[in-house]
Amino acid sequence: MSLLSRRAMIATGIGLLVAPRAKIAIAQTPATGPFILPPLGYGFDANEPHIDAQTMMIHHDRHHAAFVGALNAALKDHAQLAELKLPNLLSRLDTVPDTVRTIVRNTGGGHANHSMFWQIMGGKGGAPDGALAAAIDRDFGGLPALQTAFNRAGLGQFGSGWVFVTVTRQGKLGLTARPNQDSPLMDGVSVLMGNDVWEHAYYLKYQNRRADYLAAWWNVLDWAKISTRYSAAMDGTLTI
Ligand SMILES: [Fe+2]
Repeated sequence: MSLLSRRAMIATGIGLLVAPRAKIAIAQTPATGPFILPPLGYGFDANEPHIDAQTMMIHHDRHHAAFVGALNAALKDHAQLAELKLPNLLSRLDTVPDTVRTIVRNTGGGHANHSMFWQIMGGKGGAPDGALAAAIDRDFGGLPALQTAFNRAGLGQFGSGWVFVTVTRQGKLGLTARPNQDSPLMDGVSVLMGNDVWEHAYYLKYQNRRADYLAAWWNVLDWAKISTRYSAAMDGTLTI
């Protein structure tokens, strides 16, 4: 074989290796915005054994990414809406044109809910302290009482949805469950924390045992981050 032929084969081989990778890279390129999938901030396995790494990967990289891509696509011809901060967009869904209102509600809500969700996990559970602990004592009667009420609300949410702890500018906490990807942000109410009770959040590990998932989830919370969200809510600087 001539040197030229060997070079041609090598070149062809490299081409075969590179071309499919390039196609994959193009296919996985996320939408260019304005809404962006936030990084997880920790490894997919950070919540093991309570939430498995495969669930975290599929949940973040596929489910949440799909919400972001669909939201951007829905707003590509609505530049003024696309410029809004997500909480502002969600609190004025009545101004969104009928043709895209449902997709914006579902995908914008999904983007907001999951962005919050990744922030508050990746921790070691335990209990809050400081002002947040005092607020939980005042408004729920303590962490165990909050956990009981929260888990009951999550278990009682028929079908897919979320359970949230809401927070006012005065630091008052509340508890609410919402269907689908609805968010308290749609009512102009800030979210301190929340849990996703869609089956995609737990089915690989827990199958139909939503109660077990709800109970285990408290073990992966990062209370320092939740306390930061609590302070930001009262400062008016909470972004999602
Ligand atoms: Fe989810």
